[in-house]
Amino acid sequence: MPGGHPFLGHALQLRSRPLEFVQALRTYGDIVAFRLGPRDAYAVNHPDLIRRMLTTEAKSFAKGRMFEKGRLVARNGLFTSEGDFHLRQRRIIQPLLRRAHIQQYTVTMREIAHARVETWRDGQEIRMDRELFDVALDTVTRVLFSTRIGDHGAAAVYRSLPVLLEGLGRRAVAPIDLLDKLPTVMNYRFARALSQMRRVIEHIISEYRSRGADADADAGTADLLAALLAARDEETGEGMSDEQVYDEVVTMLIAGTETTAGALSWACYLLSRHPRIQQRLQAELEEQLGERDVVFEDLGKLRFLQQVIAETLRLHPSTWMLMRSPVADVELGGHLLPVGSTVLFSIYALQRDPSLYPRPDEFDPDRWAPERAALIHRDAYIPFGAGIRGCAGEQFARAEMAIILGVILRQFILCPGSGPPARPIVRLIPMPSAMPLIVHRRPRGPGFQEAR
Ligand code: HEM
Repeated sequence: MPGGHPFLGHALQLRSRPLEFVQALRTYGDIVAFRLGPRDAYAVNHPDLIRRMLTTEAKSFAKGRMFEKGRLVARNGLFTSEGDFHLRQRRIIQPLLRRAHIQQYTVTMREIAHARVETWRDGQEIRMDRELFDVALDTVTRVLFSTRIGDHGAAAVYRSLPVLLEGLGRRAVAPIDLLDKLPTVMNYRFARALSQMRRVIEHIISEYRSRGADADADAGTADLLAALLAARDEETGEGMSDEQVYDEVVTMLIAGTETTAGALSWACYLLSRHPRIQQRLQAELEEQLGERDVVFEDLGKLRFLQQVIAETLRLHPSTWMLMRSPVADVELGGHLLPVGSTVLFSIYALQRDPSLYPRPDEFDPDRWAPERAALIHRDAYIPFGAGIRGCAGEQFARAEMAIILGVILRQFILCPGSGPPARPIVRLIPMPSAMPLIVHRRPRGPGFQEAR
């Protein structure tokens, strides 16, 4: 990749214009060498090669430097752990985020979305990005702890998590590690948020243990935390230590809040800018649901809603760039990736590649209609990653997005608000800039029933 600085390489470009930079990298070939400071780095751009790296060659790659920062908060949770330990954790946790459990969680998702939407007034301008961050955080918190976290504990999580997310985002793109260690106000706030979060969650875990949360889980009345405490590895029968449960709880709060909040915000924003698509979606909801509210069993039938979600996640995947590091020299696509080097791949650049998608920057949910979707390269769409490190919360996130959008669009029409067009602000996750939208209440039929 041309244009590197003699000392910093391409680090400044990656930091200052990240989305442009990863797209520029794509134009130089299937695998492109560049430099991050003194380190050699490689961008893998071709969909087949990305797929190979994430699936058949997955054992040859560790998650690498980018995830070391995540360890500051999520320690040895599913997102950041490696090797056999990761496989064991994945075996234990994945079943808790599958269909049978999701069905139960969608009740909570709907209740939270309803409670929030009830506070909106006809014609009000809403900061949709903030609103949906709160909804996503409420959802993960209630699914994890039901109501047992208490107001005091919940307030501590709500205060700490945004500080931790912001701090991790800043650290992920910082050119040197020293910045994290300076006695700055930001670093102090980060350390305080971390210890607050730790105190609250450790306290809840010990309460659950002493109240016998395992019994709840057996009785099927559990929340996700009770299920984590009761879960056993199918192969060895072993459960998790309290420390490990803590790591997994924090991982889910981190991995499951901004990701879904960002995707939901973009979906609302795009719909507000494409009124015909919004009307079609509302017509589908009416046709499929009649006068009732959206429930889990509807999700498969709401085809156009699924297309809108798919297209939003194509244009605005929650992770714009991910990294890996070869654990031994690896040959990929005829190139040698040396052990310990930094290997980058960008879902954002892949999913906006004009050689894979016609008019790649256009919001066109119909590209996911079955006859057109069949023409898209099989590996060109990976918003949830792929392989053994692919998103453990994919079904959770898809259900959450569908339920929340369903609740909003049954009741409101979304229109552009004041201010400039939204743009992604890239940290760990590209979050939208301020996104004011005006909400207009839709008339409801007399027989409309809210699902409970
Ligand atoms: C729209 C929402 C979401 C998107 C786009 C998304 C995307 C991703 C991606 C791309 C990865 C793979 C990272 C890599 O390969 O390095 C990932 C991993 C992960 N995600 Fe998600 N995610 C979302 C929501 C969630 C939610 C709601 C949860 C939890 C409830 C979650 C939990 C996780 C976990 C635990 C991992 C690590 C899996 C492992 O390494 O075994 N995610 N996610």
